[in-house]
Amino acid sequence: MHRKNLSWLLVAAAWAIAGTCVAADNSRAANGKRLFITDGCFECHGRVGEGGAFNGPAPALAGIFSRRSSIEIIAAVRKGPNDMPAYTEKVLSNQELGDIIAYLRSLPGPTDPKKYPLLYK
Ligand code: HEC
Repeated sequence: MHRKNLSWLLVAAAWAIAGTCVAADNSRAANGKRLFITDGCFECHGRVGEGGAFNGPAPALAGIFSRRSSIEIIAAVRKGPNDMPAYTEKVLSNQELGDIIAYLRSLPGPTDPKKYPLLYK
């Protein structure tokens, strides 16, 4: 019962944040970039979300929208899976998390190596 209540809260919060992302613009992404550095995401996930390692691999976040929804990303940040610390609303507001998501959306993700025929000669 307690767990169920918590997950409803999470879904509600996730929709609230996703709603603010509709209005995502460059200034939100710029603030998200700043928060990504000052809140320490970069220490594990790399400065441009290229991924890295802590005790285990910290996944690349650039291009993450091809495999994860905003809701899943919000849930991961709030829960902190495995080695990742949980970022509660006390340390990262919904508005700030929305800005980080706008930043992650602005990252191009890895280039397809097939774009470079030289590599396949
Ligand atoms: C201490 C290292 C560390 C920090 C700091 C950290 N993360 Fe993580 N993060 C991880 C690790 C490790 C995982 C993978 C956990 C697992 O095994 O599933 C992860 C997973 C995630 C995921 C899920 C990725 C996926 O592919 O499902 C997201 C999204 C994420 N982190 C975002 C963030 C954001 C945003 C911040 C800053 C607010 C942050 N992380 C800070 C280590 C970290």
